Amino acid sequence: MDPIVTDQPSPTSSAPRALDALAAVIAEFNADRPLETSIALALEAVRRSLDAHECSLWLHAADGLVRTWAAGEALASESAVQAALAADGAASDLCTVRVLGANRHVGALVVRVDRPLLAEDTTLLHAVANLLAPELAHAERSRQLEVEVAARTAEIDRERRFTEKIIDSMPVGLYVIDRQYRIQAWNRKRETGMQGIARDEALGRTIFDVLHRQPFEMLRREFDEVFATGRIQEYQMESTASGDQRTYRITKVPMRLGDSAVTHVITIGEDVTDWREGQQRYAQAEKLAAIGTLAAGVMHEINNPLATIAACGDGLGYRLEDLQRKGVEIGKDLFDYIEIVENEVLRCKQIVDQLLDFSRPKQLAKSPVDLNEVVEKMLFLMKHHGGFKKMNLVKELEPNLPVVPRGNAEQLVQVLMALIINATDATGGHGTITLRTRTGPTPTDGAIVEVTDTGHGIARAELSKIFEPFYTTKAPGTGTGLGLAICYGIVQDHRGRIEVDSVVGKGSTFRVLLPTVEW
Ligand SMILES: Nc1ncnc2c1ncn2[C@@H]1O[C@H](COP(=O)(O)OP(=O)(O)OP(=O)(O)O)[C@@H](O)[C@H]1O
Ligand SMILES: [Mg+2]
Repeated sequence: MDPIVTDQPSPTSSAPRALDALAAVIAEFNADRPLETSIALALEAVRRSLDAHECSLWLHAADGLVRTWAAGEALASESAVQAALAADGAASDLCTVRVLGANRHVGALVVRVDRPLLAEDTTLLHAVANLLAPELAHAERSRQLEVEVAARTAEIDRERRFTEKIIDSMPVGLYVIDRQYRIQAWNRKRETGMQGIARDEALGRTIFDVLHRQPFEMLRREFDEVFATGRIQEYQMESTASGDQRTYRITKVPMRLGDSAVTHVITIGEDVTDWREGQQRYAQAEKLAAIGTLAAGVMHEINNPLATIAACGDGLGYRLEDLQRKGVEIGKDLFDYIEIVENEVLRCKQIVDQLLDFSRPKQLAKSPVDLNEVVEKMLFLMKHHGGFKKMNLVKELEPNLPVVPRGNAEQLVQVLMALIINATDATGGHGTITLRTRTGPTPTDGAIVEVTDTGHGIARAELSKIFEPFYTTKAPGTGTGLGLAICYGIVQDHRGRIEVDSVVGKGSTFRVLLPTVEW
């Protein structure tokens, strides 16, 4: 189909000039120049030939006409060009020639002139329009492509932001490195905290630059292993970077962009301190239960021979007294021996009773208990305790302490007594004991009682052992190592828990946390 001529041919002939211009345009196209330049020069040749103010090429895009190239003043506006095209160019100083590509209107060639155009001029414009048609069709395709690329980019961007949101919302630290150990992802959690590093600072750098505090060789070996084996790696590490001692579970997960080799490694760091403490508590409870069952059996067996020894001791004593009455001389040491036997049997019996209590905690009746009253009662009973009397006692009892709805006051007094005696022992009788009650942060830890001493403290390595039955650091005969094991059992029976904070040389705090909800 022919391009549409929208201007009427003028009577005056300028054929040679138009031919010259066409020759120039073709020459520009044949010259070895970048296409953009050729088009610009061709338009300039046309403009000059027509003595026009402007010669421009417009692309007909989905969102209207777009000026693509222009020679001259380039003042024609889109609306004016639209109007001229609609009016077949009759109504303005614009002469418009539609550019058709593959039978479609792909754009317009526009000239702005002061004079009416001659027939030769319009022929020239048609010829040039035909010449430029493929370029404009190409430009249209590029533009469509551009729009598609922009839409796809926006979609990818949305997807990227979505995935970023997911990894940012996770309560774990996460980063991803590529085969060059360069950081490709770094989530929000890794930006926070004392060791936090801003994402902008981390992305693109090598992990060794960013985690420079960690041993280079070790870190590299870990990543290399995941790259080489393609297997998930998991381990736990302790860190004091955030101030207090925390335990982290580090997981390194291989990631494959294609089908075969590992291209990236995802590292996830999760704070498992609370979980691990829970595990340890559980293991401790299991261990105690096992020891308890064993001890109960053994103790039962010991009780009978003990009773026999006690009875024989008594019998011996009576016989000796009998003989003495009959005039037989009995050395005082014999009576001493019998007294020793009796005392030692008594001590053994006490230990056995304690152990039986511990291994078979009596399910005593429970009723609402006020921990402040428990403290007062315990202090009343301790009034005459030799060592405790000399201690400096600080009492900080919260007046509005919530009631523990299911408790046994007698047992809780026993717990506090054991803690106070330990605290007294730890200070060697000279120091301060603080007794504090307060409301807990949650109903399951609703009421708290703390015993703090200024004693010798407990080494970290020993902390896990102190609740074990028979663990004691006291001289033989002074401690059996059952106090805390019994406390543990009683507090567990109350659905509560015991915490210990201790600094060697400074002192310890034993904290009993009890629920203030019914269970
Ligand atoms: N307040 C404390 N300060 C320092 N160490 C403590 C404290 N409380 C307990 N311990 C340590 O824990 C160990 C175990 O305590 P536990 O009360 O179970 O047994 P014990 O006091 O040694 O003996 P028992 O209580 O049976 O007479 C103690 O021997 C001591 O080493
Ligand atoms: Mg004790």
